[in-house]
Amino acid sequence: MKVLTIGGGAREHAAVEALARSGAEIYCVLKNVNPGIESRATAVLHTAEDNIDSICDFAIKNYIEYAFVGPEAPLAAGVVDALDELGIKCASPTSAAARIETSKTFMRELVTKYGIEGNLGYASFDDAASAIEYVKTVPYKVAVKPVGLTGGKGVKVQGDQLTNLEETIAYINEIFDSNMGGGKVIIEEKAEGEEFTQMVFTNGTDIFPMPLVQDHKRAYEGDLGPNTGGMGSYSDADGLLPFIPDEDRQKAIVICKKIVDALKAEKCPYRGPMYGQFMLTKDGPKIIEINARFGDPEAMNVLTVLSTPFTDIVRWMTGTLRLKSVDFLPKATVCKYIVPRGYGVKSEPGHTISLDREAVENDGAALYYGSVDVVNGKLVTGTSRSVGVVGVGDTIAEAERNCEKGLSHIKCDAIAVRHDIGTEALIQKRIDHMKAIRG
Ligand code: AMP
Ligand code: GLY
Repeated sequence: MKVLTIGGGAREHAAVEALARSGAEIYCVLKNVNPGIESRATAVLHTAEDNIDSICDFAIKNYIEYAFVGPEAPLAAGVVDALDELGIKCASPTSAAARIETSKTFMRELVTKYGIEGNLGYASFDDAASAIEYVKTVPYKVAVKPVGLTGGKGVKVQGDQLTNLEETIAYINEIFDSNMGGGKVIIEEKAEGEEFTQMVFTNGTDIFPMPLVQDHKRAYEGDLGPNTGGMGSYSDADGLLPFIPDEDRQKAIVICKKIVDALKAEKCPYRGPMYGQFMLTKDGPKIIEINARFGDPEAMNVLTVLSTPFTDIVRWMTGTLRLKSVDFLPKATVCKYIVPRGYGVKSEPGHTISLDREAVENDGAALYYGSVDVVNGKLVTGTSRSVGVVGVGDTIAEAERNCEKGLSHIKCDAIAVRHDIGTEALIQKRIDHMKAIRG
């Protein structure tokens, strides 16, 4: 089975490993040099991940049957639509279905139209003056978001990054002045609680849920600093999280299913992995965002313990195979990203990384190459997250220890890691926080 993969980060490397171990022949498109992905590939195309013409030529030349797109930019650009036209079966959504991520307003309106649970108060604006008028009168704290894509870094929340009304107004002006995320703004009610990620696989009609994961968006230890794409994440052996009961997980799964149904009813059926970001509040799970792809880093957690062949899931998502279940090993995982120094504010790329992948694996961890390059034969950091290390164990504590052992085999003089991810102290903080919220 020939599979074209698009994307050169650690999420895509995890997907490529899962495809390769289930027997796929890999053809990859990426803009950087990723030794992990490329060592598994029969042929490699280095180009922009939204270069539709080159990607289509490469697919035709190599008689590609299936495709999988990792990042959001090529989904937004219509790469899937173009590959669909060629008769290639894509385990990723069309640009119309991907609006669930590429327009935060589309997502909120869809959830409203179909009466789906978990929505938050919101209003969208095309001009700064109206948005500012609105935040002056709205009766709750808000999150301010550009409507379009910003690589996970465009959201600012009152009480977190925005400490008062003046800062909120200044940020709204900044979004419009700089045309960030398409230069439209959505103001959302702030949800208070603990965040979790529920991802599902879907063929447009049915879904198979993945284990719950918790990501860490803030750049610095102790959940401080700017928002990032995500610094690391963990999952537990039972598919739940220590502060998320099954009852609430089921509610999140129902919300994902209803979104899949709504997209089908809107005549833009969704195929592929879908990502639900939720806040567990005192009133149950609330939708923070829905993404049209695997989460990054969350993909590394779930794909590392995926026991159903990923090729079968790709066939099922594209309608060429029936599947009774999707299964995961009953193992906990802890993923920590090595990122270039300055990541989240201004990354310092180009620093040499030395690593021993075999030693990482011998210590019970998996290693995924991310935003790296190879320059003069040396592995160097890029501008985004460099290398993901996923410790696996029977408990989160064991997985965390294995992750740290794995990290010890990677050296670079200009990197940062959030060592607190998956530690008992941080998880206890989440449990206590949830108890306080729920009373
Ligand atoms: P996003 O890029 O939409 O995931 O937002 C980045 C982060 O901002 C999320 O992970 C949340 O921590 C926070 N956030 C976004 N929207 C809200 C909201 N409506 N209420 C509270 N926090 C939010
Ligand atoms: N981990 C957050 C995201 O992939 O959007």
